[in-house]
Amino acid sequence: MAGSDFVIVILAAGKGTRLKSNLAKVLHRAGGRSLVEHVARACRPLGAKAMLAVVGHQAEDVAAVVEPLGAQVVLQQPQRGTGHALLVARGAIGQRAKYALVVPGDAPLVRTETLRTLVRAHQIGNAAATILTAQLTDPIGYGRIVRKQDGSVAAIVEQSALLDDQRDINEINSSIYCFTLEKLWPCLGKLRPENVHKELYLTDAIALLNQQGETVLAEVTPDPQEILGANARADLAEVDRIFRQRKRAALMDAGVTIQLPETVLIDPEVEVGADTVLEPFVQLLGKTRVGSGCTIRTGSVLNDTVVEENVTVKPYSIVSASHLGKGAQVGPFAHLRDGAQLRPGARVGNFVEVKKSVLGEGAKAMHLTYVGDAKIGSKTNIGAGTITCNYDGVRKNPTTIGKDVFVGSNTALIAPIRVGDRAYIAAGSTVTENIPVDALAIARGRQVNKPGWAAERRREIAAQARKASKPRPRSKTRAKPRPRQSSRRKPAPRRRPAVARRRLKLSRRR
Ligand code: UD1
Ligand code: CA
Repeated sequence: MAGSDFVIVILAAGKGTRLKSNLAKVLHRAGGRSLVEHVARACRPLGAKAMLAVVGHQAEDVAAVVEPLGAQVVLQQPQRGTGHALLVARGAIGQRAKYALVVPGDAPLVRTETLRTLVRAHQIGNAAATILTAQLTDPIGYGRIVRKQDGSVAAIVEQSALLDDQRDINEINSSIYCFTLEKLWPCLGKLRPENVHKELYLTDAIALLNQQGETVLAEVTPDPQEILGANARADLAEVDRIFRQRKRAALMDAGVTIQLPETVLIDPEVEVGADTVLEPFVQLLGKTRVGSGCTIRTGSVLNDTVVEENVTVKPYSIVSASHLGKGAQVGPFAHLRDGAQLRPGARVGNFVEVKKSVLGEGAKAMHLTYVGDAKIGSKTNIGAGTITCNYDGVRKNPTTIGKDVFVGSNTALIAPIRVGDRAYIAAGSTVTENIPVDALAIARGRQVNKPGWAAERRREIAAQARKASKPRPRSKTRAKPRPRQSSRRKPAPRRRPAVARRRLKLSRRR
């Protein structure tokens, strides 16, 4: 920027009492990032001489977010207010620049362009301070802008200090300012903690500048949404909603169809190609990249996943850290994770989990299967209910299946194991030995058929029933009354018919 004689100071030391949280306010997330990360990212492209962040609460965690974005942190301990925060930064600012752009770490929606405009307006206006303000229909909670007759700013009055005739001022302080530092420093020295919080308010510097005969200007933002400060949980939800809406709008502009857009959640770094359709309640998270011509159907969640062109992800599939090649199909109800790779045209169906595995071109696993630590060759068919038994209780072992293999349903592959190209595995096999190329493997108990057994058993049962239903011969003496059966008594065990018993014994001897 021409005349980039300024430093940026991000105020990020506060606790955020109104969130009622153990986490420092600026570390709370909205729109897929922490608040302070949004702010630092908006500031970075401005090309300032330096970007400082005043940190205090959970200082190390906040530093870990802003330092990689090029910020230098300054510790404010204890936190005695926004004015105090700037005083603490004074040493680090030194003589580095003529101006400071001050941005609160809890105003994540501000855009780079808006900040640039403010800095320009300040340099052109030749004021001691220029405040970014907004007109709000509901200004409650914000500091109000008191203007002078000539339109310049006389003071900022915090909510708790408002006089009766100031209550309907609806122009508010965004807490984003540009200061001419040589004018600001003397005023900061005069701040007094004479307010409800006993803090040094940066806002008080405005009246002090006026007392020094300096001019303070205001730049009204055309988009009041941008300066929303996330002070309470409801604000966080609102900020999140706006970020998500911005992201969806950008993608729709780029040719993506989004159905019921307000139900679709997309993280900021996600990319989606043109002519891709996102159905309701889809989530695209992290660094997910979806190519063009794809359909991501309802309820699916994709995280850190690369999706090439013309892929279909059917409803309610969960895919993370995976790669879906061109034309692949997934789901419904599939779970792909930790480096699952589908080569072009590969298909994974319902109730299939794939972990750290490659499915070759056109390979299929369509029903009720677990594929873990496996390499599956092209065009291989994995039958329903197949399990790669990759874990032996100590370590994970690999399964390698060649191409054009037919794995019969309900096969258990005890890893480590190798299956050669074009092999067949009989359904229900528990495979413990490698299978050569072109072989058929059958690894299951042999079936025995006993002709007529069932019919004979039925006859026996019928005969017993007949015997039991014949009337008993009446006894001459008076029958003893039978003891009443307790309802708790166990019924006598049912005996197998005699023939069946004999046959069973026979079969055991075989
Ligand atoms: C502040 C302004 C208010 C303005 C509002 C806009 C003051 C006194 N009030 O109020 O006029 O309308 O922002 O959102 O400035 N911080 C520090 N050190 C501290 C205190 C705060 O770094 O000692 C940081 C906080 O982490 C936060 C920012 O400064 O990111 C603003 O502080 P906050 O307490 O949110 O001020 P508000 O009450 O919102
Ligand atoms: Ca705030």
